[in-house]
Amino acid sequence: MIDLHCHILPNIDDGPKTIEASLEMARHAAETGIKTIIATPHHKNGSYENPKQTIIQNVQTYNDRLKAEGIDIVVQPGQENRIFGEISEDYDAGMLQTIADTSYILIELPSSHVPRYTGRLLFDLQVKGLKPIIVHPERNSEIISHPDTLYHLVEKGILTQVTASSATGHFGKKIQKFTFELIEAQMAHFIASDAHNVTSRSFKLREAYEVVEKEYGIEARFYFQENAELVVRNQTVYAGQPERIKKKKFLGIF
Ligand SMILES: [Fe+2]
Repeated sequence: MIDLHCHILPNIDDGPKTIEASLEMARHAAETGIKTIIATPHHKNGSYENPKQTIIQNVQTYNDRLKAEGIDIVVQPGQENRIFGEISEDYDAGMLQTIADTSYILIELPSSHVPRYTGRLLFDLQVKGLKPIIVHPERNSEIISHPDTLYHLVEKGILTQVTASSATGHFGKKIQKFTFELIEAQMAHFIASDAHNVTSRSFKLREAYEVVEKEYGIEARFYFQENAELVVRNQTVYAGQPERIKKKKFLGIF
């Protein structure tokens, strides 16, 4: 298995604080069948700045340590980029790290809303040959209440990654239900862990694939697993025609 989104590097963001905690994560990942992890430290999210060079150096050192410890995992560089006005300029300046040096790049929206300029900024990145992947749209309040916001982006070729723990129900029933709605509407293209530790924010990737297989059959599981492989090989992923999610009108007292 390949995990496209993971905060595994020690002491670089809100992932593990120590190398020991980080290695515990790696061992746990290996035990659950993960072979490749894309290390995706936060960048420009208001708390952390981790430009490309910092990530590359950390990944190199970390892979040496994994080898020395005999942990059968390969870590490749990535980055979780909070969307911001100058993201395109930052890419030109060599600050952004794509997933394993491919054309695919993780983009994080604020949790509460979708900034009005999102479509234009993502389009600017697409023009530069990048393939933006919006991370955990199922946890964004505006997208939950107005799924059309996401639909209009996916319609234009934007990809999305749902979080494994959302599919398994670890973020609650409401998030799980919306994750399923996104999958059914062909608005989810990848599943990744977004793991930060082995306790409250663990991997759950194998569990998520099992849930998807149980809900939608083995073909759905293969779809997501294969898409992750295609990303790392920098090949075109499978993306179906998205459908709009009809939100039920609130039939309350109003
Ligand atoms: Fe993340």
